[in-house]
This record gives sequence, C-alpha cells and structure tokens, in this order.
Amino acid sequence: SKLIDLAVIGGDGIGPEVTAEALKVLRVALPEDVKLETTDYALGAEHYLATGEALSEETIEALRRHDAILFGAVGAAPGDTRIPSGLIERGMLLKLRFAFDHYVNLRPSKLWPGTTGPLRGDAPIDFVVVREGTEGPYTGNGGSLRTGTEQEIATEVSINTAFGIERVVRDAFERAQARPRRKLTLVHKNNVLVHAGHLWTRIFHAVATEYPEVTTDYLHVDAATIFLTTQPERFDVIVTDNLFGDILTDLAAAVTGGIGLAASGNVNPTGAFPSMFEPVHGSAPDIAGTGKADPTAAILSAALLLAHLSHPEAAARIESAVEADLAERAELGVRGTAAIGDAIRSRVAE
Ligand code: NAD
Ligand code: IPM
Ligand code: MN
Repeated sequence: SKLIDLAVIGGDGIGPEVTAEALKVLRVALPEDVKLETTDYALGAEHYLATGEALSEETIEALRRHDAILFGAVGAAPGDTRIPSGLIERGMLLKLRFAFDHYVNLRPSKLWPGTTGPLRGDAPIDFVVVREGTEGPYTGNGGSLRTGTEQEIATEVSINTAFGIERVVRDAFERAQARPRRKLTLVHKNNVLVHAGHLWTRIFHAVATEYPEVTTDYLHVDAATIFLTTQPERFDVIVTDNLFGDILTDLAAAVTGGIGLAASGNVNPTGAFPSMFEPVHGSAPDIAGTGKADPTAAILSAALLLAHLSHPEAAARIESAVEADLAERAELGVRGTAAIGDAIRSRVAE
C-alpha cells in the first residue's frame, strides 16, 4: 500500500529517545510515493503512575487498526518502589504480544563488519533466533498460596501447546530454508523439562521431514550458552521457547557488539494483527536522559518493520547505512543518541 499507518509507543526511559531516532531514519528511507502517518500512544510505567492505566481495551482496539507498531521500551528502574516489578511488563507489553498473537519473536544477531564483540576470533556471526512469543512460562499461569507465611508457595506454569509449538517451529524451518546455510537448531532442556521438552522435540522432528534440505540440530539451553560464546558461528537459525529465547538473545546481543545493536520484531505472520518492532533492550534507567543511549537497535528494528510491510528496498537502505556507520564507529569516537541517529539518517538520505 502507498500509506503506512504506524502506531508509535515510545514508552519509558530511553524508549522515547531511541524511537525518535528510528522515526527520523524511517521517514527518509521510504520511497517518495509512500506516505507515512504516525500516531503516538502514551503508554508505560510513567503513564501508569500518572493515570492508573496500564493498557485499556480501547487502546488495544485503536492499536489494532494500524499497519504496524514501532515500540521503544517500557519499565521502571529495578528497585523503583513506586510500581511493582512486572506490572507494566505484563500488563502492557506482554498483553500486546498476546492480544496481537505475536507468536514469532524474531531476533537477528550478526557481527557487523567493523564491530568487535568481546569474543576472540573473527569468525562471521550471523544467526537469527526465532523465539516463541505467546506461550511458555510467560502466560501468567501460576499463583501464590499461603502468601506471607513460612509455607508460601509460588508457581509459574509453562504452557506449551502442540498448536503453538508447531506454528513457530514451521516458521523457523521456513526461515532456515530461505537462508544460504539452511541450518536450524532447536534449543530446549528436554533432559529435565521432559513434558514440554519432549513435545517440542517430537514436533520439531515431525516438521523436519517436510524440510529435507534443512540440517537440524538440538542443544540443551545450558550448552547453547557455551556455544554462543565459544562457537557462535555454528548457528544459523535457532528456534526456542519464550523464556530461553529471552535469555539467549541478550547473550547473543552481548557477543555481537552489544545490546545497543540488537533489533527485534514481534511478528504475527498471518497478518491478522499488526506486528510490533522494538529493540531487544529495555528502558535503561541507568542512562535515561543522558543522551548516551545507542539508537542503532531501534533503527534496525524500523528496518525489520519496513521489510515486514513489504518495503525490502527501504529496509536494505537502512541496513546499509547502519553498516557504513558501524564500520566507522571506532574512528568516530563517542557519539550521543541524536548524533548517531543523524549520521545514519544522512547516509540513508544520500
Ligand atoms: P536494559 O536492557 O534496560 O538495560 C541493561 C543494560 O544495558 C543497562 O546498563 C543499560 O544502560 C544498557 N543498555 C540498554 N539499552 C542500551 C542502549 N540502547 N544503548 C546503550 N546502553 C544500553 O535492562 P534492565 O536494566 O534489566 O531493565 C530496565 C527496565 O526495562 C526494567 O523495567 C525491565 O523490565 C524493562 N525491560 C523492558 C523491555 C522492553 O520494553 N521490551 C526489555 C527489557 C527490559
Ligand atoms: C524483552 C524483555 C521482555 C521479555 C520483558 C520486559 C517482558 O525482556 O523484550 O526481551 O521478557 O520478553
Ligand atoms: Mn529480554
């Protein structure tokens, strides 16, 4: 379509700072005949503290009508006593991921030319984690008993459905099939989590028979952290559970140049709901307001958004500009949020 009707949720902390830079870049990346319309939604911990509202049904309905959502980050500082930890994460962010059935949480990781991670060696790192986004221990299925007593019990039940596993595993096989190396690794913990783990493994092998060109592999999640640090080049596509995927993608970001570069998409591949694109990082309260936040992850998330909305050339323009900027970072020295955003925007506009 010739109009992109975009919802923008800056959120808390550095969320609005990096989102502003991503929007700057997105605007100049679009072909001339594509119009961008944006609607800002005030949401997040600060919004909750001001209004008592995390995310209303009306806001969900309004968001649903957009083509896509560009999201920054939400959440208060760990230890902030004004709001219980998890209230806004569950009540707003996860609520949106569930409401819009974002079952593919797409998190690409690559060591960009010129960027150095903390690891020795210079093997190329380029993989994508397909993190399940609607199930696992994230559903809120659990509770507390005997609260406040010495016999208190807390449970957090992991929900794994055959339907939910199969659709995300299938999506991961499709992505692996379309990449040159055609390799897919299932990460779970089926030596201990035998109920969920065996279901994942069985479905993975069943779907694999339909993709004979894809090489498959399995790792327990603890061993996956070893290989992500010692041999990250062995990975192409990883498919995994919601919580394992959360943890592995912060690690993946750290080994490929830092959390400031890691982009993601919460994707509903059916198109029934708008997909939502956001950096992997959070609101970074420790640096909020200092202008030190790296907007690159947000900018690359905007590129994922454009690719999702069938504007692959615009997405590629952003990625090339980021690549060129990263190649020169070592020489350019320390730059702030806006300086990095401006530099990338200029390259896109060239
Ligand atoms: P965080 O990702 O916000 O920060 C971890 C560390 O990385 C901090 O030192 C921070 O300064 C640094 N960092 C993060 N993004 C950066 C960037 N763009 N440039 C430079 N440095 C960056 O994780 P946290 O401290 O565990 O969480 C803070 C809050 O964010 C919590 O309330 C948490 O729940 C929330 N959170 C939200 C999301 C999200 O909205 N998707 C994701 C993760 C955490
Ligand atoms: C992320 C975050 C979220 C998650 C939290 C804030 C709900 O850590 O996007 O990686 O665990 O998915
Ligand atoms: Mn996370």
